[in-house]
Amino acid sequence: MHHKGFILWFTGLSGAGKSTLAEQLLAQFKSSGYRVELLDGDEIRTNLSKGLGFSKEDRDTNIRRIGFVARLLARNGVIAITAAISPYRQIRDEIRALSDHFVEVYVECPLDTLIERDTKGLYQKAIAGQIEHFTGISDPYEPPLNPEVTVHTDCESVSDSVARIEQYLMDHDLIGDP
Ligand code: ADX
Repeated sequence: MHHKGFILWFTGLSGAGKSTLAEQLLAQFKSSGYRVELLDGDEIRTNLSKGLGFSKEDRDTNIRRIGFVARLLARNGVIAITAAISPYRQIRDEIRALSDHFVEVYVECPLDTLIERDTKGLYQKAIAGQIEHFTGISDPYEPPLNPEVTVHTDCESVSDSVARIEQYLMDHDLIGDP
């Protein structure tokens, strides 16, 4: 199946649902015969960005690396999906400016809901002061000002969010009709 390469950039707080949505789309694109790769924050930190921490400097390095690889993939016709918190607007916009097709998806979920869910148990630790610089608790998160798509994972099902992202991509001729 012929298609353009593009970057599908997820951003949002830890636990908001970036990886879940990214994995669903990865599976759907694969089954449509598209060439696609997923660069997931947690996985990247075990190889490409091994040893980096969560200071602003280290996060910026992590995000620039992810952006660099995503651009290499996209310019070779691959759909590059990224799923890292990527909390700083300036770095996301820097990658956008360097990319031909950049689709930013803001995975929005109220902090209260994330603290309640606490799927990894990290919010509790962050609130107790056991994890420093935790995004949303003791470290900043700068939401996108003009994301191509915003999904609200507290009140929208995974399949609704996936469908809205696919609709955007179809409307902009980045993927074909299923
Ligand atoms: S980013 O800021 O550099 O984009 P990334 O997405 O790679 O972050 O990693 C975030 C994941 O690391 C979280 O989902 C969480 O599991 C873990 N983590 C560990 N410490 C922190 C922290 N201080 N802030 C945010 N996430 C953390």
